[in-house]
Amino acid sequence: MAPWLDLPYDIRTVTPEEDKIIKRCLTGYTRSFVKCGKNEYIMPGVFRKHAQAIYNLPVRPDDVWVITFPRSGTTWTQELIWLVQNNLDYAAAKEKPLYERFPMLETTTQIPEIAFELIKANFMGLKSFQGLGHAVKKPSWKIIEDLESPRFIKTHMPLSLLPPNLLKTAKVVYVARDPRDVAVSYYYLHKMVMKNLMRTNFNMFWEAFRRDLLPWAPIVAHTNEAWMKRHEPNLHFVFYEDLIKDLPKEIRRICKFLGKEYKDEEIDRLSSHLSFESLRKSKTVNNTAGGKGNDIQFIRKGEAGGWRAHFDKVMTIQSEEYLVQRLRGLDLEYPSLSYTKGEMTHL
Ligand code: A3P
Repeated sequence: MAPWLDLPYDIRTVTPEEDKIIKRCLTGYTRSFVKCGKNEYIMPGVFRKHAQAIYNLPVRPDDVWVITFPRSGTTWTQELIWLVQNNLDYAAAKEKPLYERFPMLETTTQIPEIAFELIKANFMGLKSFQGLGHAVKKPSWKIIEDLESPRFIKTHMPLSLLPPNLLKTAKVVYVARDPRDVAVSYYYLHKMVMKNLMRTNFNMFWEAFRRDLLPWAPIVAHTNEAWMKRHEPNLHFVFYEDLIKDLPKEIRRICKFLGKEYKDEEIDRLSSHLSFESLRKSKTVNNTAGGKGNDIQFIRKGEAGGWRAHFDKVMTIQSEEYLVQRLRGLDLEYPSLSYTKGEMTHL
């Protein structure tokens, strides 16, 4: 086996003030958060321990990876890809949770230290909580390393923190979404997971989001990394908003990318299976903590532009400033924003 490559990026602890802002939104982390590389991607402190193993994960030519910033349509795309690659085997998809069919690379690095200890002790049967038990017993990257081919791998990590031969070796689908909708959806995800332990309201969460102080942030740099490589043959780039606009068209594009062909009727059936209503009902896909009784569902609203109902005037202005600033000098263009001659004009 080849010796491990050194990490080409540095990992440093965030400032105490930044750590406080992050921890106001997240519960159960005892270590300080860290920033990785020149884009300063935020990760929990324990990431230090796993970063090199993840960077050195052996990639296989028959892997299919889905890379996203959280809440960008990952689950939706995973189910789509898994079915396309498995001859539309709906029965098998119904049998096994998506998080087992299409596991996440860095789960172990994201479990708050307190939850990690509770799960390890099998506190109140938490062991099976959304499949996290596995990632406590054995690092999630190791679970993936040991999987049989073909593997389906989900990650929220940006390309620069992933194995350097990834795009030369495996097929990768990157899904991007309007950061304002992501902010809202990310907030509800934390609310769903933390329930009454959540101490922040949306205003405080937005404050952390716009300062890029949440796990895997900054979102624009994350997306831009993939955008810059969108013409590489092994990378397929798709916007959540385009999935919403014309799902059958985007399914066909993904099929083409993966070298699969299906008849029109099959694409129609797959589109209905992947509809918001259908996935919301699916026990193997709608990964809602606390089950049906939870008032916030993992598959929650499924809209483009829903952020408008959550942003007041000040937040709207802040979001414009945020996007203008983060997009300055980049050629990344979100379909939900307006541009004239490459310059963002009006939001
Ligand atoms: P909302 O919270 O805005 O509803 P991820 O899987 O990356 O965590 O993304 C979750 C987001 O994708 C949620 O957004 C969820 O509702 C949305 N989503 C999942 N399946 C969908 C579908 N079939 N149609 C539209 N949106 C979907």
